[in-house]
Amino acid sequence: MSEKLQKRARKARVDTMERHVLVCVDDDCGGSGVAKALRKAIAAHGLRSTVSIAKVDCLDICTKGTIAVVYPEGTWYAGLKPSRVERLVTEHLRDGRVVTDLVFHRNSLASVCWPPESPTQG
Ligand code: FES
Repeated sequence: MSEKLQKRARKARVDTMERHVLVCVDDDCGGSGVAKALRKAIAAHGLRSTVSIAKVDCLDICTKGTIAVVYPEGTWYAGLKPSRVERLVTEHLRDGRVVTDLVFHRNSLASVCWPPESPTQG
């Protein structure tokens, strides 16, 4: 694998990531402020090595934004605002408790994930 790719992967902390948050930043969702507040709160709570944020153009919900989804749990949030980000970060991302009053759907993808790689036979 290329050195550049490995360097980018280290910078993205793919080896230590425990949760990945996808935030819709389309104008209809208005999530740019939420994404910015999330990054700030994640850093403030010392979660940068384990929580990664990805800004996405649309999550196909397009109502009651800002929409975001947290993996691996598959927890879908609606109505996020910068003022609600602190709860998402402290309750869910730091303490592992879903913020139920902001959740509209849950669907862990764990049941459909590929099984761990088995050792190579040789
Ligand atoms: S515009 Fe945000 S989910 Fe579609």
